[in-house]
Amino acid sequence: MNVEEIIYSLYKNNNSSEEELLFLIQNIDKNNMKLLIDKADEVRRRTYKNKVYIRGLIEISNYCKKNCMYCGIRRDNTKACRYRLTKEEILECARRGNDLGYKTFVLQGGEDPYYTDEIMVDIISSLKKEFPNNAITLSLGEKSHDSYKAFFDAGADRYLLRHETASKKLYEDIHPGEKFGDRINCLKDLKEIGYQTGAGFMVGIPNQTDQDLVNDLIFLKEFQPAMCGIGPFISHKDTPFNNYENGGLDKTITILAITRLLLPQVLLPSTTALSSIDPKGRELGIKAGCNVIMPNLSPMSQRKKYSLYDNKAYILDEDAEYRKMIDKNISEFGFKVEESRGDNPNFM
Ligand code: 5AD
Ligand code: SF4
Repeated sequence: MNVEEIIYSLYKNNNSSEEELLFLIQNIDKNNMKLLIDKADEVRRRTYKNKVYIRGLIEISNYCKKNCMYCGIRRDNTKACRYRLTKEEILECARRGNDLGYKTFVLQGGEDPYYTDEIMVDIISSLKKEFPNNAITLSLGEKSHDSYKAFFDAGADRYLLRHETASKKLYEDIHPGEKFGDRINCLKDLKEIGYQTGAGFMVGIPNQTDQDLVNDLIFLKEFQPAMCGIGPFISHKDTPFNNYENGGLDKTITILAITRLLLPQVLLPSTTALSSIDPKGRELGIKAGCNVIMPNLSPMSQRKKYSLYDNKAYILDEDAEYRKMIDKNISEFGFKVEESRGDNPNFM
């Protein structure tokens, strides 16, 4: 077994064995990382050419009933200053975003019981009424099948629910009181209801091994998500994981490129977390096969409060300026911002 052979076979078959993936992750070096990235880029271009899709992210609430060990807005963080947006404030963000060319709105928030099904259905249908041609993505955590169905029927198109880690023990260690099986059932429900469903995980979670990352990749190949969010773990000062190191740049890029080869058609964001650990993070992610970016449309007054990790990138950029900057920035390294809805090809 050698690294180059594994990369070529992954490229040819869009698949690999567990042993090969582990060997690849543990033995890749600077030279063959270039090969991996070139192959991931080539595979992305077959479906998506040089297009980078944009999604406007609206962070609707930082209240959360969960207590994930890694997250800055976990329930027990009494230092977090909490906010939630009203329907009218969410619509205002969407109007601003629509004017700037965003055709997807991502409503993301902590698991905040304030937003009952009735309130969410009203928000989703109001957005759909005003912006019938825009896609709505939800990222609101674990809900019942009935709630997911009600949101879908109200017009939600996509749902992001990272699986966080496919290793049951690690999952239950970092999510006090939660069950891995519940998470997986939610993902299955979302897919069955008809959402474009997004899974995903962090690279470099405290105590994560390379075998855990292999488990994540195998899970992705099996689950076949329409979208996949992968970014480095970044420590937050007011969490139990405050003293751990951040996930690495090269490791995250490697995992992103492998994901592109395993799932040629997946929508793969170059995440804000990746930009937050390195000023070139976004660019490197895109070059390695990412084809989505998710700029922030949350009200400027609240932005700092949606703090999942320390030193989050881009929070102070003004939206219109930032939108222009993205076009310039992305075209400088050979890609093109695409303003259409950007559905997964299997859902068009
Ligand atoms: N570092 C990186 N990513 C984080 N997330 C939450 N906390 C952190 C952190 N400290 C990610 C989780 C979650 C997504 C919304 O943000 O994977 O699913
Ligand atoms: Fe809540 Fe999500 Fe943070 Fe967990 S990761 S504490 S569910 S906002």
